[in-house]
Amino acid sequence: MPRRVHFRGELLKNAQFRPEPILGRIVIDKVVVNDEVFLSPPVRSDTASFVSLLNEKEIYDNTLLIPFPYTEHDAEAFIRLADLRSKAYRRPLDWAIRTTAGRLIGMVSYHGASQFDSSREEVGYWIGKPYWNKGIMTSVLQTFVQLGFVTYGFERLELPIFCTNAASKRVAEKAGFHLHSSIPKAHIKDGRPIDVDLYLILKA
Ligand SMILES: CC(C)(COP(=O)(O)OP(=O)(O)OC[C@H]1O[C@@H](n2cnc3c(N)ncnc32)[C@H](O)[C@@H]1OP(=O)(O)O)[C@@H](O)C(=O)NCCC(=O)NCCS
Repeated sequence: MPRRVHFRGELLKNAQFRPEPILGRIVIDKVVVNDEVFLSPPVRSDTASFVSLLNEKEIYDNTLLIPFPYTEHDAEAFIRLADLRSKAYRRPLDWAIRTTAGRLIGMVSYHGASQFDSSREEVGYWIGKPYWNKGIMTSVLQTFVQLGFVTYGFERLELPIFCTNAASKRVAEKAGFHLHSSIPKAHIKDGRPIDVDLYLILKA
């Protein structure tokens, strides 16, 4: 069977691809961000890192899908889900952010909008608090945008950010997103309405 790349567009130069013999397609394994950080799918041995980094109220307060307190069961369920999503979408949507030693320090994901409209995705991310304000997420997001446009073939990426999350808005701007609109009462979290600023970036 001829080997076939199932991504549209070109392949990102700093990504490593692995042939999958049974399906005859190529699976992306690793994306190098810079000398300090790379991306690869989350695996079972990341469970302890998830639990230690996500028992942090400030991460819970600024995100919608992460439970608090965060348990081993939550981590295992997320890792299983990421694997299922990767198979269903025929490419990984959830990427662990790792130090060069392989330690998980955060996550960056496409949320799955491309199931219904392959031209666009929504992005979400977090980094463990000990790693904040070192420029890591800005570099990761810049690379993730390229992965989305060059390799996955998206035309538009969306980044909804809670209005109060100044650090994330700064990251979005540094990675080339622009503020598109503000959505009052976009969500209800812990019984309180959350206003969201919607940031966008379009493929050039
Ligand atoms: C948002 C988050 C991912 C940023 O990651 P990071 O690796 O620290 O980001 P960077 O270091 O690349 O950039 C952070 C920027 O925000 C700025 N910043 C940090 N706290 C800030 C604050 N309270 N007000 C204004 N700017 C702030 C930093 O100074 C830096 O900007 P600069 O380079 O111009 O100085 C991280 O704080 C996090 O995981 N927060 C909790 C979860 C979350 O908010 N996820 C995003 C949901 S949309």
